[in-house]
Amino acid sequence: MDKIIVQVIERQTLAKNIISLKLQPIHDQLPKWSAGAHVDIFLPDGQARQYSIINSYSDENCLLLGILVDENGRGGSVWIEQNATLGSELTVGKPRNHFEYLSANANHQVFIAGGIGITPLLPMIRQAEAENSDWELHYIGRSLENMAYVEDLKSYGNKVTFYPRDTTERPDFTQILDLHKSLTIYCCGPELLMDKVEELGHQFANITVISERFSAKPLTDDSGFDEFEVVFSYSGITAKVNREQSILEVAEAAGIYVSHSCSEGICGSCETPIISGQVIHRDSVLSEAERIASKTMMICISRANCSRLALDL
Ligand code: FES
Repeated sequence: MDKIIVQVIERQTLAKNIISLKLQPIHDQLPKWSAGAHVDIFLPDGQARQYSIINSYSDENCLLLGILVDENGRGGSVWIEQNATLGSELTVGKPRNHFEYLSANANHQVFIAGGIGITPLLPMIRQAEAENSDWELHYIGRSLENMAYVEDLKSYGNKVTFYPRDTTERPDFTQILDLHKSLTIYCCGPELLMDKVEELGHQFANITVISERFSAKPLTDDSGFDEFEVVFSYSGITAKVNREQSILEVAEAAGIYVSHSCSEGICGSCETPIISGQVIHRDSVLSEAERIASKTMMICISRANCSRLALDL
């Protein structure tokens, strides 16, 4: 069950240009997910868009998603806004999680959200609160009317600070955070914010940053574009990947089915186990530790750094 047909059972306006959809499967029980997970919504042309799941698996058999309707985007959110009316049917993928909340972590937890980036953090915050963890949220948005869930978050009192940009300065995290503490920072938002927060993780050994991006990190390394051979071990097929092709394209051309969605290394759906060979990881999904371990790769964008790469596909 890779795709699930769901029905829109509730739709609300959360803020300016942000709607929420509650989706219930027509036939199936939803697979389990954890805080930080997202799902694909498939569009009529087969492309998919990823949305974070706001509710918890234990709530009920439904998905609650927050969708920023971006008039200047690629058209997916506008299509959803126009077509996901009450009672309509959509196709979604299975929940996936590359933004896991480490509930066993005893550090002080800092949540940093930019705009719609609040959505994956909401279930984490609920879990942190339920576990009586020490946490704080810094939530940045264009203006209060553009920020979803403001009233709900106010109930957490001074654990939450809002930074509407029309009335407030952008936060300087080196001033706001207690950088002497061991911090685990969960961050989701636009590129500039993510870069700043990830920089803290590089500067301070006591700070761990766990982040999720909406868009692919810019590629700074143009190595790994030589032709190489890929062995799809499970399928028993060996093929050449030339400079213009991705491994995903070569697999599809060979008739091998690979679940994929974004094709730019941000959704994690094409993650494939590596059997042997060196890889240049070019995705925005794997953590630093996962890249070093190099057990899996995103075959839509990452490439071999060797002449022969074997994959469990
Ligand atoms: S298809 Fe999204 S990461 Fe590869």
